[in-house]
Amino acid sequence: MSTIGVDIGGTKIAAGVVDESGAVLARTRRTTPATDPEAIEDAVADAVAELRAEHDVTGVGVAAAGYIDASRSTVVFAPNLAWRHEPLREEVEKRVDLPVVVENDANAAAWGEFVHGGGRSARDMVLLTVGTGLGGGIVLDGELVRGTGGMAAEVGHLRVVPDGQQCGCGRTGCWEQYGSGQALVRWARSLAATDPARAARLLELAGGDPAEVTGPHVTAAAEEGDEASVELVATLGRWLGEGAASLAAVLDPGTILVGGGVSSAGALLLDPMRRAFAGALTASQHRDLPRIDRAELGNDAGMVGVAHLADRS
Ligand code: BGC
Ligand code: NA
Ligand code: ZN
Repeated sequence: MSTIGVDIGGTKIAAGVVDESGAVLARTRRTTPATDPEAIEDAVADAVAELRAEHDVTGVGVAAAGYIDASRSTVVFAPNLAWRHEPLREEVEKRVDLPVVVENDANAAAWGEFVHGGGRSARDMVLLTVGTGLGGGIVLDGELVRGTGGMAAEVGHLRVVPDGQQCGCGRTGCWEQYGSGQALVRWARSLAATDPARAARLLELAGGDPAEVTGPHVTAAAEEGDEASVELVATLGRWLGEGAASLAAVLDPGTILVGGGVSSAGALLLDPMRRAFAGALTASQHRDLPRIDRAELGNDAGMVGVAHLADRS
């Protein structure tokens, strides 16, 4: 049977009918309403209604960028969104009259990659989603690691710099502040403001205003070979590699996948990441290094993964 997967992102809500093989049979999207949880729930229900009109489905999975409770019901906390103790499952169930499960966006994406994507041949894997935030999903021995309260794998909030940058979660020095699209944009804007000659291409793409430089500007300029942008993407890759080495010291995964918008930079990001990883990993001379690769399902990973979780529940 098919289920519907819904991925609530910062700018858009992506929804699709997904079958057992992971194929997306139909899809639709809505613009994410600003910050009002009720408007988001209405938009989710509206997308589900549209898809159901043409397809038989048995349940709905919803992926959201926050801390989800152990029963897969409530968005307890979201560092980069206004949601606090939002009973998302109940609210969506009320609207669609189908069983609903809620899962963290990166956990859902990791599960999607494990079942149908770049982690198909893995047993132990880590997915890092590098977008606005830095998300993590961990699969060990074929099971998604959720922790006691549902909040495991919040890798973006590992402290990597004592007294470092302020994070949206309220603490400082979190890995997310150095290993995400947010970080890339912060560095790029500051370079454009302080060294306009070196950032000439970035400034050109941003219409001359340092404050208008975006992540896609940096990755596009890096792909063209712009030296400053290549270096910014490499810096991000090094932060990812160093942090991933700490995760590997704990988890010893065979596969580390990198997804999220910034992963479109491909080797420009992954090569510096692999080098930094090998340099930082404990006992790296005496062990097999994990495969570090780009995730395979792209923007569909969360949708496909959470649809599969809805099917299992
Ligand atoms: C949040 C995670 C989320 C990640 C990616 C982080 O800031 O804490 O829950 O998975 O961003 O969206
Ligand atoms: Na996670
Ligand atoms: Zn944080």
